[in-house]
Formats: sequence, C-alpha cells, structure tokens
Amino acid sequence: MRIASLDPQGPVASGIADLWWFLLILGSAVFLLFVVLLFRALRKKESFDAETGQALVRRWVIGGGVILPGIVITGVFIVTIAAIRSMPTPGEEDRTLIEITGHQWWWDVVYPLASVRTANEMYLPVGEEVELRLLADDVVHSFWVPALAGKTDLLPDKITSMVIEASEEGAYRGVCAEFCGLQHANMAFTVVAVSGPEFETWLELQAEPPTGATGETAQGRKVFLDAGCGECHTIAGTSDGINAPDLSHLASRLTLAAGTFPNTPDHLRNWVTRPQEFKEGVEMDNIDLDPASLEALILYLESLE
Ligand code: CUA
Repeated sequence: MRIASLDPQGPVASGIADLWWFLLILGSAVFLLFVVLLFRALRKKESFDAETGQALVRRWVIGGGVILPGIVITGVFIVTIAAIRSMPTPGEEDRTLIEITGHQWWWDVVYPLASVRTANEMYLPVGEEVELRLLADDVVHSFWVPALAGKTDLLPDKITSMVIEASEEGAYRGVCAEFCGLQHANMAFTVVAVSGPEFETWLELQAEPPTGATGETAQGRKVFLDAGCGECHTIAGTSDGINAPDLSHLASRLTLAAGTFPNTPDHLRNWVTRPQEFKEGVEMDNIDLDPASLEALILYLESLE
C-alpha cells in the first residue's frame, strides 16, 4: 500500500509535491547563503572608517534585507498561486461523485448516482478525476490520502469538496488528519484505484444485496439480528441501521474497524466480541456470545462478499 506524500501517485498530489520540493530547495539555498555570509563576517577582521562602514551597512541592509527577500517571496508567491490554479476545481465537470461523511471514528461512503453505500473503503476509476463531497456527523475531521491529494476538512455544518485522481492502479491508505477524539489515529480508510471496467463491475456488485444466507450462514444471520447488530448496521436485505458502517459487502474489504486491522477471520472475531479492548471509546459494546454462535456469526460476516 502506497502512503508517502512525497511519492505522489496522481496529478493533484504531484502538483503539491513539486511545490514542496521547490520551497525546500529555495529555503535551503537561502539558509546556505546566510550561513556562508555569517562565517565570512565572523572571520573578517577588517576595520573601516565611519563613512565606509555606514555605506557597507546600508548596502547589506537594502540588498539582503529588502531586495533579496522581495525576490524570494515574490517567487514563492507566483509559484504557489500557479500550483493552486493548476489544481482541478470541484463542481466544474461531469465526474464520478462520492459523498463521504466522517463519524467518530469511521467513514460513511456513498456513490449517489449508483445507489451504493459502503464504509472505510472507496474505489476509483484510475486516470480519472473524481469529486468528493465531504461532511462531518459530529466533530471536524480531515480527509487525507497523502499519495493522491492534499487535505480537506469535513465540517459538521457545511459541505466541502475536493477532487482526487490516481494515475496508477493500486490501494492507497488514507487517514483522518484532524484530531477528533480518542481514536483519531484509528480513523483510516483505503482508496482502491482500478481500471474503468473493473470500477463498473465493483459498483454493480456493491449495489446488489449480498447472496442469501443458507445453512450455517443463515444461523449466523440470526445471531446478528438477535444480538441487535442490525439496529446500527445495515446489511442489505437483512437490516437497515444507519448509525454504524454498512456491512453489506464487508468480506470484500481490505481492512476492519476503519483501517485498524487487516480483514481476516481472526481479527474479525476479536473485533466483533471485544471492540472496547482494541478501539476504546467506539460506540460498539463488547458482546458475549457462546462459541458456536460466534463461529456462525463470523461465517455469516465472512460470506458477505
Ligand atoms: Cu477523524 Cu481525526
């Protein structure tokens, strides 16, 4: 999984990384110049008469204190404005649209035009600009996929938007970049960039309810409903809770608990029964299940492809 902001994998992130390198190189050059001049001044033991000394001071103050910073700051200003202007603006073109709502501490993800709802994971068509509409359910969060774009805050009272694009297929890790409570550090997500046709297939699969439960998975489905999981979680065709991540296609996701664990049966078993131990403060309570019920529940959840 690619994470580094200085290893950009899309045009928006590249623009930001280029600007960062420009500022680093320019800042280093100014710093180096300052160090060289400082050492020269410290080593020089010349003495001047008052008039020459004053002229020298004036020259250095005007040259080094006004002209040089003027040139440097103007340069930084121009390059920064150019970088901002080269970024795609939200709301301008026909793009794939994703609505993302930040919750303590997970991400609700909706593709409104395809009637798809998922959580903590989103697919994008590679090489295409995708528009995100962002909102927070509780406190301020911040959406950041370092390899793909800059940060944008999710606010409780105002929709914000941004454009991201991945130029290579792959899975990219995203994080919440604004402190939002106890489990801020465990509020991550995955962006998966795939080819256009693969993206369409994914959307179609996600729009369908999971295949019906039979035998042991039907037993697990009953455990899910009896334990009250469906009051908060939606599983299409089974329950319609809206206070927690949609689980309709849980088994197809790469991670659990908003990027906290890889999605394996062992992690799922721990997470479902003892969430307070692994992510203290989440709204889900620990549950006590007899071993047979737990295994049936895990089998059922694992069947939600
Ligand atoms: Cu959400 Cu930090």
